[in-house]
Amino acid sequence: MFHLAPVSRCSIFGLPPGVRCLLRPQCTAILRRYQSNDARKRSLTIDGKSYPSDSWTNAPENILIQYGRRLHVQPNHPLSIARQLIESCFPGFQHHNSLPGVVTVDQNFDSLGFASDHPGRSKTDTYYLNQDTVLRTHTSAHEVDVFRANTSNGYTICGDVYRRDAIDRTHYPIFHQIEGALTWDRSAFKSSEHFSQHIQNDLARLGSAGVDVEDPNPTFHPERNPLQAKHHAAEEAEAIAAHLKRSLEHMAVAIFTAADKALKASDHAAQEEQEPLKIRWVEAFFPHTSPSWELEVWWRGDWLEVLGCGVIEQPLLIRADVPSRMGWAFGLGLERLAMLLFGIPDIRLFWSKDQRFLGQFDENKPIKRFQPFSKYPAAPRDVAFWIPDAGAAVVETPATTSSSPSPAGGQITAAPPPDTPSFHENDLMEVVRDTAGDSVEDVSLIDKFTHPKTGRQSLCYRITYRSLEKTLTTEEANDLHEQIRRELVARFGVELR
Ligand code: DAH
Repeated sequence: MFHLAPVSRCSIFGLPPGVRCLLRPQCTAILRRYQSNDARKRSLTIDGKSYPSDSWTNAPENILIQYGRRLHVQPNHPLSIARQLIESCFPGFQHHNSLPGVVTVDQNFDSLGFASDHPGRSKTDTYYLNQDTVLRTHTSAHEVDVFRANTSNGYTICGDVYRRDAIDRTHYPIFHQIEGALTWDRSAFKSSEHFSQHIQNDLARLGSAGVDVEDPNPTFHPERNPLQAKHHAAEEAEAIAAHLKRSLEHMAVAIFTAADKALKASDHAAQEEQEPLKIRWVEAFFPHTSPSWELEVWWRGDWLEVLGCGVIEQPLLIRADVPSRMGWAFGLGLERLAMLLFGIPDIRLFWSKDQRFLGQFDENKPIKRFQPFSKYPAAPRDVAFWIPDAGAAVVETPATTSSSPSPAGGQITAAPPPDTPSFHENDLMEVVRDTAGDSVEDVSLIDKFTHPKTGRQSLCYRITYRSLEKTLTTEEANDLHEQIRRELVARFGVELR
């Protein structure tokens, strides 16, 4: 049985209770107040290109070392199989799978209309190579370039994306997204009515997705989900929105039908009569689309948030020098879908080079559920410490939410952290990754205590060491834990208890 992250992790998207988020595997941020060893180097070299370091540099070696693995195109890799399943839903689209993960701040944020103070730009959320260059936080970073090249009406972009993150079985700081977009050239039609009618005809050709769809809101809402009235006639945007929704309903049906088949083939209990698949559309906000939605799917007892999408912001197309084109775009996270399709229980497995993992997937055969090959014993170790007196601590218990919103622009529901917290639990996540890498399965806060007299705060975290590939000896786990304890003192001045 696989588990998605606690629902509260996703509340930065403003998801209603009970909806799980598939758009990205993580919705938490890491605040890092120290510079990694890499940041202290004069420059970083990636793909033969050198990036001079500066005060923004914060990309650690344990992340950079994975750059260029290209799991999304590795033959028979589950992420590649999930990508191909999605691509197959968009015949005639051009598929871009080799756009580089290093992009400019302009590509990642400015070109998409992110406000200059958008929290997604902060070093707490994003890996900077230097002040002008980041590891892309989403595949949308390439939208303007691909629109400018204008080599196809429809396209997908798939690749690795990078976001600072917590540690558990569904969260990893590198994951993969697939982006899709379709535009039409309005200048090819003699009137707005002809243009809208043409899109309506395309929509009619898509046919029904044959699924129950809840779509309670009007296409536009003046405050919550506005029409781009300066650029679009309502009937044009209506037609584009309807085409967008129907296209993505077809895709959702394809994905979840495949997931159902795989489950039924492996598990007799899963063959029992299930409630049919249901889809619902929820209003959303993204800087690069308006109106915008999230698509949720009711599958085997859960509402799953699958993707974000909307009518492309016209200024973006104007910036791309294709001002007469109009259309829609969407983006989704591949890991969560692949975990669901194949029943993969731990996100670290995607990075495994172990044949017992890789040997289980075949892109030329129907999707089959993953059979766990072994589960090595967990080695939990606790670390308790007093945080330094100055400033408050920022910690995330299951009841709290991320300290910053998604780089995608999802709704902010959490209060920002104090300006200069003396400790942020994501500092600990970074130390754990730097020291123990993928040998840690989970880090969770298990106790928090304020001394009644001194007012000092004490935190206790449980670090669960468990390799996916071997049994960690007691000594190995102890050594890693000791190093982490030492680093916490050296970097953050905590007092161990
Ligand atoms: N870029 C968004 C993210 O990373 C996902 C997304 C939302 C992509 C809406 C789109 C879109 O193209 O239209 O979360």
